[in-house]
Amino acid sequence: MIDSARRAPFALVVGSIHHDRSLLVSHLPRPGETVIAQRALDGLGGKGANQAVAIARMGVPCELLGVVGDDDSAGIVRSALLAHGVSVAQVGAVAGRTTGRATVVVEERGENLIIVEPGPVDRIDQDMIDANLRDRETPPAVVVIQGELPAPVLDWTAESAEKAGARFVLNLAPVLPVNPDTLCRADPLVVNEHEATQLIGLLGGDPAPIGGIEDALPIARRLVAAGVRSVVITLGADGVVLADRQGARHEAAFPAIVTDTTGAGDCFTGTLAAGLAHGETLAEATRRGLAAASVAVGRTGAASAFPTRSQVDDVLR
Ligand code: ADP
Ligand code: NA
Repeated sequence: MIDSARRAPFALVVGSIHHDRSLLVSHLPRPGETVIAQRALDGLGGKGANQAVAIARMGVPCELLGVVGDDDSAGIVRSALLAHGVSVAQVGAVAGRTTGRATVVVEERGENLIIVEPGPVDRIDQDMIDANLRDRETPPAVVVIQGELPAPVLDWTAESAEKAGARFVLNLAPVLPVNPDTLCRADPLVVNEHEATQLIGLLGGDPAPIGGIEDALPIARRLVAAGVRSVVITLGADGVVLADRQGARHEAAFPAIVTDTTGAGDCFTGTLAAGLAHGETLAEATRRGLAAASVAVGRTGAASAFPTRSQVDDVLR
């Protein structure tokens, strides 16, 4: 176990940075259908960028390691990150390439679908990772990564985080065929119910869909038995199931009136990571993440909807 409480509480997010276009529609289009958008919004996105914002909002200094292109979007996302208090010193600009983009379609009831055009993430190399982790005098307390990067980047980051003595938070979204060692280094592994199912399939198990808390509990236990240090499975309005070697249990969501669930998982994961960086236990940090996500789903937008530390404290009170 790494004692994150004794370290300078700063976090490093290795992750995707997107210029999102969100379209509000009355219903999600079926194959072959055309739907007219009621409203369109442009903004910062990408799981890496979103989680970095969630961390910075909690008052934990946060650096983002990622790449953008050399187009107009690059400047837009950089300014947005800076405005949210995220350090972009380690955001590289790749000449001749376009910044990652995501088209997010949100229907009135809050469901969404997302298509990502990845940015130049193929240009993130092991030296960039090691320079920011293993080879650094003061490593971060917590390192966070997601599945919107090539699988080797996740493997390098897990290994480098371990060498640096930094706690490794793995949000395997989307699910990628990472090295088994990478899964075992996760503390916690954070996945939603769909990703948990896919991951079980990838590990050679029966990928039966999770139908709620009672299905998620044994799956979380199973991932711990497979060597993952700790696991959090997010279940939307049902909250989360969390598991470690001490056992598995359910933690309910805080009540919310849902407006837009875009980025709810990112808000949860980033806020949880910030709690860990502050020296909270996994259980405490999980409750903080649940509180933050309940605020985020009640507001339109992703990163711009994430609450501040005092807003989260109000929910926890
Ligand atoms: P993802 O967006 O990655 O699929 P989830 O849908 O599981 O993630 O949501 C992540 C977290 O957001 C949940 O664990 C919960 O804390 C919060 N959340 C999502 N939907 C709701 C809701 N309807 N009410 C309250 N909290 C919610
Ligand atoms: Na939202």
